[in-house]
Amino acid sequence: MNAPASGNSPLIRVAVCGAKGKMGREFVKTIWSDPELALAGVVTGTPTAESVDEHFGVTLAPGMHFDTDLNELLAREKPDVCVDLTHPGVVFENSMAIIEANCRPVIGTTGLSASQLAQLDKALQGKQLGGMVVPNFAIGAVLLMKFAQEAAGYFDHAEIIELHHNQKADAPSGTALKTAELMAERQARFGGSNAPEKESLPGARGAKGPADVRIHSVRLPGLIAHQEVILGSPGQVLTLRHDSMDRACFMPGIALCVKKVMSLTGLTYGLEHIL
Ligand SMILES: NC(=O)c1ccc[n+]([C@@H]2O[C@H](COP(=O)([O-])OP(=O)(O)OC[C@H]3O[C@@H](n4cnc5c(N)ncnc54)[C@H](OP(=O)(O)O)[C@@H]3O)[C@@H](O)[C@H]2O)c1
Repeated sequence: MNAPASGNSPLIRVAVCGAKGKMGREFVKTIWSDPELALAGVVTGTPTAESVDEHFGVTLAPGMHFDTDLNELLAREKPDVCVDLTHPGVVFENSMAIIEANCRPVIGTTGLSASQLAQLDKALQGKQLGGMVVPNFAIGAVLLMKFAQEAAGYFDHAEIIELHHNQKADAPSGTALKTAELMAERQARFGGSNAPEKESLPGARGAKGPADVRIHSVRLPGLIAHQEVILGSPGQVLTLRHDSMDRACFMPGIALCVKKVMSLTGLTYGLEHIL
């Protein structure tokens, strides 16, 4: 059972897609401990006979089982919001299904392209519903992006190194791409005065992102989510770094999005717009 609501506001009924994953299971527990939220359902990729309470080993949602069909859950439970923390290969289809069911998507799964984001916005505008896609729910990472954008106005040489656990499916990370996009708003081209380069090992210089900012992706067990933005000019180097040490750092941001999305229309991309 959910923790009791405070005041008279109705609970926001939230479904979680990817509820057995590393992020999804943390957020299911967050819903339970947030007095403004109620768990409306959970979806997982692999069928399971386990109940939600058996899986989590505590009484969270008596009688609730995992769904494997998101559409079925949306039609049956009609949640207010559905949080997607799944896989880049299914996130677009899931997001469209959520909107089609008149539910508000909060998407943490990375890997959506610019044209897919535009399609989601169009679908949301058509239904007059709000939705959010958030490459990084950690406040420290959002601040890093903001500081990097500010610094990019003063440095025309910069590179991004993002480091993640080795189960991450997409590269570069959504956060690295978003950081590069923000930096490109302040600097037309990075690294313009570098010497002509020839890579004797292809990929050695990373991938060229917006405004030619180089992005390097590191994948290692032991890491969670980390990013450095290194800016250089003659005689000085500025390094900005953020480390997510535990997935707990993402949970307040997801809960905030779930609450804010109720009063939005169209797609909001990034946590910074609702802080
Ligand atoms: N925005 C942010 O701040 C942030 C932070 C961290 C991670 N992420 C992103 O969040 C996503 C999930 O990360 P994670 O570390 O939790 O990954 P994970 O541990 O691999 O969990 C993903 C879960 O998604 C489930 N799944 C796969 N396909 C599905 C489908 N079609 N329907 C329903 N569930 C499905 C899987 O279920 P089964 O195991 O049952 O197949 C799995 O439990 C990734 O894209 C990651 O990059 C975002």
